[in-house]
Amino acid sequence: MKYDLIIIGGGPAGYLGAERAAAKGMSVLLFEKRNLGGVCLNEGCVPSKALLYSAKIYDYTKHSEQYGVKVTGSSLDQETVIKRKNKVVKTLVTGVKGALKKHNVTVVEKTARIEKKSVEGFVVSADNEFYTGDRLLICSGSEPIMPPIPGLLEGYQKGFVLTNREILDLTKIPETLVIVGGGVIGLEMASYFNSAGSKVTVVEMLDKIGGPIDDEIAELLRREYEKKGITFNLGCKVTSFTEKSVVFEKDGKTFETDAEKVLVSIGRKPSTKDLGLENIGVEKDKRGAIITDSMGRTNVAEVYAAGDVNGVSMLAHTAYREAEVCINNITGKKDVMRYSAIPSVIYTNPEVASVGETEATAKQKNMDFESVTLSMKFSGRYVAENEGGNGICKVLRDKRTNRIIGVSLIGNYASELIYGAAMMIETQMTVEDLKELVFPHPTVCEILREALFAF
Ligand code: NAI
Repeated sequence: MKYDLIIIGGGPAGYLGAERAAAKGMSVLLFEKRNLGGVCLNEGCVPSKALLYSAKIYDYTKHSEQYGVKVTGSSLDQETVIKRKNKVVKTLVTGVKGALKKHNVTVVEKTARIEKKSVEGFVVSADNEFYTGDRLLICSGSEPIMPPIPGLLEGYQKGFVLTNREILDLTKIPETLVIVGGGVIGLEMASYFNSAGSKVTVVEMLDKIGGPIDDEIAELLRREYEKKGITFNLGCKVTSFTEKSVVFEKDGKTFETDAEKVLVSIGRKPSTKDLGLENIGVEKDKRGAIITDSMGRTNVAEVYAAGDVNGVSMLAHTAYREAEVCINNITGKKDVMRYSAIPSVIYTNPEVASVGETEATAKQKNMDFESVTLSMKFSGRYVAENEGGNGICKVLRDKRTNRIIGVSLIGNYASELIYGAAMMIETQMTVEDLKELVFPHPTVCEILREALFAF
């Protein structure tokens, strides 16, 4: 049988693309080499949130007295946490399988390789079987970067060095955990293992944590976690791993810190190796990412790519939208991908969320803007629920257009309210129009309304 569309990769971009294409009447074949649901559902976004929620409940029990609740003898049972996490993953993966079945998507759980373009279409092989399709959508995702630092590979092979995949299955909490890379994964895992009782040390190459997040918020988050006992070594370069420690340099001096386990979370790279892209001439950039245009098209006609594999945003929610853009264009509805209002969240406790420009990026772009910073205490619900919390909300306004161009937040529920800020940016409403919106009271999202009125 010849398919209208062959999709390689069953993560958020692949499975959503398959559902959307099938819903529009296409015959779809989807290949997945590991687990349907991809990194997000199996070893990323979802399982880490299950763990972090357990940690949050545990933290509440440890600090409940300030809310007038006495809890004695609470403890965290890591084996149960992992079992529950596995149950959450299974439920959601089963949901994805069900949705694909409902849409009559043919799923082949094997490693696919593009062989050639023939007169019949694109030929893809898996285990010596050959499949043909009119179009390709490549959604092969990304994998952790593992730099050639002495001792890293050996440490990984021996189970001393972990990536996001293995750390989410640890059934015993390590006494000491060193995290190399203070980005999104590093901070979320630092948060979990700190709550669970590990002595956590973060070694970060830059002078700040959280990568592109607002500088002031990064600083607040770091101070919050230092109070909780995490050690941050900023501006440090890891030079080697021994079997029980990490060696790093700062300002020409060498330091060594003991570790029972090490997490390496220094970023991810697009997975394009062994896909057979060269057989049909698909162009990649220097990092190995497939080059796409705003419609999701590669340089080869009828070959599209979406998700982490294009190296642009590397977030599951971006992948969903990119896949939709590809399918719309394939099925004749012109659609373009916009990246100016993509929210990002770090699920630490307190949470960090942002969308659009930060002060640093707005300055780099010479934008004519002003910013308002409010304490989260302007929200009544925040005060009622966050004893001692000192979150902030920062909103940026373009002075020429009177539109919101960026929002950064630290404080709980930030993850749930950031989409409202994304809509403010995406819909391009003016601050005056936004002031007419009615927010539910009392909610933490009212902080956005307060900020609008501060301009
Ligand atoms: P990341 O890019 O967020 O952070 C990597 C950090 O490692 C950076 O701060 C970088 O300066 C540092 N670094 C790089 N090389 C280093 C070295 N040799 N020594 C010390 N530090 C070094 O990457 P991360 O945390 O690995 O996450 C990977 C991807 O997964 C990201 O694209 C992220 O967006 C995504 N992700 C998103 C989540 C979310 O949306 N909540 C959760 C987890 C992952």
